[in-house]
Amino acid sequence: MDEKNEVYEKLLKCYDAVTKKITFKPRLALILGSGLGGFCDTMDVRETLDYGEIPGFPVSTVIGHKGRFVFGYSGGVPVVAMQGRVHYYEGYSVQDAVLPTRLMKLMGAEILFLTNAAGGINPSFKAGDFMMITDHISSFVPSPLIGRNIDELGVRFPDMSEIYSKRLRGVIENAAAAENVPLKSGIYLQTTGPNYETPAEIRAFGRLGADAVGMSTAIEAMAARHAGMEICGISCISNLAAGISANPLTHKEVQETADKAAPLFRKLVARVIKDSF
Ligand code: HPA
Repeated sequence: MDEKNEVYEKLLKCYDAVTKKITFKPRLALILGSGLGGFCDTMDVRETLDYGEIPGFPVSTVIGHKGRFVFGYSGGVPVVAMQGRVHYYEGYSVQDAVLPTRLMKLMGAEILFLTNAAGGINPSFKAGDFMMITDHISSFVPSPLIGRNIDELGVRFPDMSEIYSKRLRGVIENAAAAENVPLKSGIYLQTTGPNYETPAEIRAFGRLGADAVGMSTAIEAMAARHAGMEICGISCISNLAAGISANPLTHKEVQETADKAAPLFRKLVARVIKDSF
């Protein structure tokens, strides 16, 4: 019964590879969603590390998703940013999909700031809106905590009653007001993807209480919460979800809207980071 915990062993191997190459000590981990990769251009970058240089690290395959860690300062805060995230739909295990999140925790990050592009379910949302994530529904994806518990990171049955920190939600609201960025808030529901949803699914998700839907984020938030990080998240509503909009969904539309919203999103994210501690 004392066999190795393979998920943890792999994480430690990745951590070992990072510490051999990187000296920077981040306090905040930032996962950049579609269209937000350019945020790193606004950082005072000190070091970068391609995912491919970390043995065993799951490397993203989606076109337009760069794969590297960027280390540097944003608003005076030491940040590690993920330019390109790892999605479950790429075929990795859900444990591999959250390895980068856990790795950033080991690097020293206390806060996890999640961003993504998501489909709007709430009928009051428009494409280009920003939604502060207040809670999530992860019941349609496997938990990243399945398998032997990593006791070194957290407990077997972690509480999820306040995944998205109340304190940081206040920071986001104040940052949006200070920067004059209109802000919605709501509940994010994660699906596995890669297909977009059917109109029937979107109606069902709406009845369950979801305001937006996407293919990332909830599992990362769960892994981070398990490991004791303080978490916040903002979705860019890149499109109205299936059936809410009359048009068929395309990745191109999602990317174009996310790219258009990016300058304002960058401004909001930068302010949140500056005010996060
Ligand atoms: N559904 C799921 N994921 C998404 C969507 C959507 O409509 N838009 C952006 N990511």
